[in-house]
Amino acid sequence: MNSSTTQKIDIQKASTSRIGEVDFNNLTFGSTFSDHMFECDYKDGEWQNPTIKPYGPLTISPAAKVFHYGQAVFEGMKAFKDEAGKVWLFRPEENFKRINKSSTRMAIPEFPKDLFFEALTTLVKMDKDWVRQGLGNSLYIRPFVMATQEGVSASPSTEYKFMILMSPAQAYYTGDVKVVIAEHYSRSANGGVGAAKAAGNYGAQFFPTNLAREKGFQQVIWTDASKHEYLEEAGTMNVFFRVNDTLLTAPVSDRILDGVTRKSVIALAKRDNLAVEERPVLVSEIVEAAKNGSLKEIFGAGTAAVISPVSAFSYKETVYDLEKQEDGYAARFKKELMDIQYNRSEDPFGWRYEVL
Ligand code: COI
Repeated sequence: MNSSTTQKIDIQKASTSRIGEVDFNNLTFGSTFSDHMFECDYKDGEWQNPTIKPYGPLTISPAAKVFHYGQAVFEGMKAFKDEAGKVWLFRPEENFKRINKSSTRMAIPEFPKDLFFEALTTLVKMDKDWVRQGLGNSLYIRPFVMATQEGVSASPSTEYKFMILMSPAQAYYTGDVKVVIAEHYSRSANGGVGAAKAAGNYGAQFFPTNLAREKGFQQVIWTDASKHEYLEEAGTMNVFFRVNDTLLTAPVSDRILDGVTRKSVIALAKRDNLAVEERPVLVSEIVEAAKNGSLKEIFGAGTAAVISPVSAFSYKETVYDLEKQEDGYAARFKKELMDIQYNRSEDPFGWRYEVL
């Protein structure tokens, strides 16, 4: 792996900050961006010209391969400000490893580790005022890579752009999330790109999710592509089921994203001696558990929402309601994770990464 570089980042500061124009109490997730962004191009076999510049539009050829073949991957991570004003990232090493894993799957060259961390920390330091204090407030960080070579031949690009954008976010209230268990559409297949955070994985979900919305549900629980017998992910998140006091989730595979929140929930559960099973979870066993009352909770786990409880699911036109659990596992893991993220508790796993 090309893990180090000697390149210096060219820093072009914005002449004025846009922060005064932002209503931090009324943010729509992912639609406001901080003053600066990071950009680095891959050309002639190497990453070059790393630059931090004012956030703004790009000029890219309409024939760039990303527009035609979707050769693009991304990451999602967050910066948090604690009560003393210190800024922290949560397990950024995991996002770094995963973006390169996703890139490899999409035939994109890996990005150097030291440049990733240098860019990330410099950018967060420059735009530190965009990380607001208060539980639930964060700066959502979006590293991504896209194929920029001009040309529509169906082959891997020889040129890429690696970028990092940052977007202030408030607590992500998903409200009452009702989900439909997929019986026809699939998110991923064996040998496919499900384990990669490939842009097209998300775009492909929009149509079936719209169909679910038309029926009054917010998300889809994805099932295996071959027989739709196993429960795999929920919307853009990993998914957990609590049957009695046992936590069940699908094992990571080339169909399942190795989620940072997912693995953190599992680590917290194991530390607390809760029963956790990472194994294929049958739709039929969850339907049966809903019928006999042993299904206590379903929740999604991801960076944006942290933990998102599901209030009902639909399968074969039958709706199964779940009782609201004020002190359930979802609430417990969300609190434990956020306490670590916001430096409100000990960090026994060493997950916090101090930026400044
Ligand atoms: C996450 O929460 O992990 C996501 O990937 C959400 C993003 C697609 C907005």
